[in-house]
Amino acid sequence: MTARRTITVPAPAGVVAEPLDAAPGAGGPVGAPSGASAPADLSVWPASAAEPRAGDLSVGGVPLAEVADRFGTPVYVLDEGEVRDRCRAYRRAFPEVEVLYAAKAFLCRAMVRWTGEEGLGLDVCSAGELELAVTSGFPADRIVLHGNAKSPQDLATALRLGVGRVVIDSTAEISRLAAALGPGDRQRVLVRVVPGIAAGGHAKIRTGTEDQQFGLSVRDGHAQHAIARVLDQPRLRLTGLHCHLGSQITEVKPYVTAVRRMVGLLARVRDQHGVVLPELDLGGGHGIAYRPGEPFLDPAVLGRRVRAELHAACAAAGLPVPRLIIEPGRAIAGPAGVAVYHVLAVKHTGDRTFVAVDGGMSDNPRPALYGVRYAPRLVGRDSGADPVPVTVVGRHCEAGDVLAEALLPADVRPGDLLAVPVAGAYHLAMASAYNMVGRPPVVAVRDGLARLLVRRESAADLASRDVGV
Ligand code: LLP
Repeated sequence: MTARRTITVPAPAGVVAEPLDAAPGAGGPVGAPSGASAPADLSVWPASAAEPRAGDLSVGGVPLAEVADRFGTPVYVLDEGEVRDRCRAYRRAFPEVEVLYAAKAFLCRAMVRWTGEEGLGLDVCSAGELELAVTSGFPADRIVLHGNAKSPQDLATALRLGVGRVVIDSTAEISRLAAALGPGDRQRVLVRVVPGIAAGGHAKIRTGTEDQQFGLSVRDGHAQHAIARVLDQPRLRLTGLHCHLGSQITEVKPYVTAVRRMVGLLARVRDQHGVVLPELDLGGGHGIAYRPGEPFLDPAVLGRRVRAELHAACAAAGLPVPRLIIEPGRAIAGPAGVAVYHVLAVKHTGDRTFVAVDGGMSDNPRPALYGVRYAPRLVGRDSGADPVPVTVVGRHCEAGDVLAEALLPADVRPGDLLAVPVAGAYHLAMASAYNMVGRPPVVAVRDGLARLLVRRESAADLASRDVGV
């Protein structure tokens, strides 16, 4: 009955990556038709998603309407099984590769535990993420610290907790890090370089070319200069090179090109300094489908192509094959999350219908930032009404607070529940308290049980920070 999504099957042939910046309104309304007769398309939902009864939708064996009843809305539902399956799929697709979960996509203590138990490492980019991971029991030596502007506190926390590797992202950081180390200490580091490859779903999340603030350019020689300086620092041990092309990349080709260029740079380091670096970190950025039919990057295909290219390029350069590191964030957390909202108002304006929900850009700023659109559907009630095009909007005081152009039953009304799939990455992680609306809770579902992971941010939480008069 349902179209099943699998993460080991490549995107359908002929599907062309649609840049996110072309997405606003593009392609018309998308969504699971919610009329009683139409079979639901669950291809972008967690694999556990099921319709026990018409109109009802469960994830991890728990009806979403029940989660909404018990925890209120808006609420984020995280399918533990889906997170774990995605971690396992990566480990299968990348044997002998160090897979780091990019914590910026979404982090809480449970995510720390699940990813750790599945054998992944962690990529963190602040003292906050690092501290949460280590105090939740994650081994510090399996953590890599990133950041183009690491604060003194970031570096001090990294050294205090014994972080595995620090990724150098500026020349100033080299001496700062070395100076912060005690006599006899030696910190493992990678140098982040810009390989000159344009890829990524939106201009704001492309980091593979020189026109942005991350990494050190190979083309203008800053990368080579930083590598030489790190090699000169007795307190730093350069274990390899890093690059991150961007995010929401749905093609394999940029990664294959990156492998070739990075191996070329490893060969130059060997020729110039007589040093063979044992590690190569290719970053993350693996794209996912937000709406049925959108392209995504299959980790199995990526793993095969990248490893084949790595072996070929190293053989050609006469280098031993370095240990590969990858940093997927979105592809692990994104499809495991579902946001559930109540409809608060339905408004007909001219020929448009606006369906307003009790969340919006404060819990999901992605539509406003990148023009992304989602595919919400009605849950908790079986409507026989025909699907009609509607614009799903948030509750915030901006006309840009638009979540979706969707097809919803014509009788959609206040009190209905809407569920938005693919809400696990860069939603809550980027949430704000705009309009003093507290951030939603996170509820884990698994084997028919729901449990609270992160509680709702209350008005009292917000007021408690306000200590002036
Ligand atoms: N490694 C590094 C160094 C990164 O900067 C990032 C993401 C990742 C790994 C993980 O990338 P992923 O696999 O999740 O694509 N807020 C944006 C995405 C920003 C990504 C920032 N860096 C969004 O909502 O699309």
